[in-house]
Amino acid sequence: MHVRRSATHVEILTPAKINLFLEVLAKRPDGYHEIVTLLSAATIYDSLTFTPRRQEEITLQVRWALGYSAKNARHGAATHAAHELQWGDVPTGRENLACRAANLVRERAGIRDGAAMHLVKRIPAASGLGGASSDAAAALVAANAAWNLNWPRERLVELASELGSDVPFFLTTGAAVCRGRGEQIEACRTMRLHYVIVRPPVGLSTPRVYQQCCPVEQLSGIENMTESLKRGNAADVGRHLINSLQPAAASLTPWITRLQQEFRRHDLLGHQMSGSGSSYFGLCRTARHARRVASRLRSLRIGTVFQAQTAVAS
Ligand code: C5P
Repeated sequence: MHVRRSATHVEILTPAKINLFLEVLAKRPDGYHEIVTLLSAATIYDSLTFTPRRQEEITLQVRWALGYSAKNARHGAATHAAHELQWGDVPTGRENLACRAANLVRERAGIRDGAAMHLVKRIPAASGLGGASSDAAAALVAANAAWNLNWPRERLVELASELGSDVPFFLTTGAAVCRGRGEQIEACRTMRLHYVIVRPPVGLSTPRVYQQCCPVEQLSGIENMTESLKRGNAADVGRHLINSLQPAAASLTPWITRLQQEFRRHDLLGHQMSGSGSSYFGLCRTARHARRVASRLRSLRIGTVFQAQTAVAS
């Protein structure tokens, strides 16, 4: 997350995430699933501007960065099943998680003033790349800074976990092993990884994918992944990619299997779906390799293709 403060507002660039590892351990009585996952920030950024205002409400305007909705239209699917979401399905106004985050800070701090928030989106919705969670974390940080609250990170993490399982991760830097429903975070070492990411024309709803999943019977253990990252061995990272939500997602949309087949044709270190989908990523050897694979995938018109790498925190 990159934070810039000026006299009138706070501007934040907030990254996407990739799940390099995700195992579902059990279904919990509260409806969530117990998971262990390794999240790594990736260089696709949304940008949030937060301007404190005298009037007593928080407003939010959302727009897609130049060229993004056009890409969506070009690759748009003709029909969608009810559980498949569109590329730009991002709620505006009070429903948006970033707006809920800012309102939560306002309520807990007993602030009467409001704010105007502007969100420029690049992270596609319903894609397993954490866009909404990242925006919410950015709103917490922005509100804390703009209203001069000086709340410590631990306090923001508490609010973040009320907002969603992935939100606390975006308050950390780089990479983290996340447990519980995903909100218990422990920072871990990461390395520069080069990704090619495809967001197919349809997205998936997280609750729907979890509803469909089966907890794993034979755990692989996350240690192989954390060790590979510690050693800085990208080939080993590729060998130890795991996402136990992938079969559930593949049962909801044919796009996951289609992407898996396309990615197999490229000489990648590894590939899998990110989070609850529908984005699918491949691990490349170098930035040049990622560029080459991205350009081949673009010609197939199978969705929006991103080239990204590990985001380093500032
Ligand atoms: O925490 P968040 O609001 O992002 O979760 C959205 C939904 O995804 C939950 O309501 C739940 O249905 C599902 N989920 C789950 N187990 C998790 C995380 C999310 O079942 N660990």
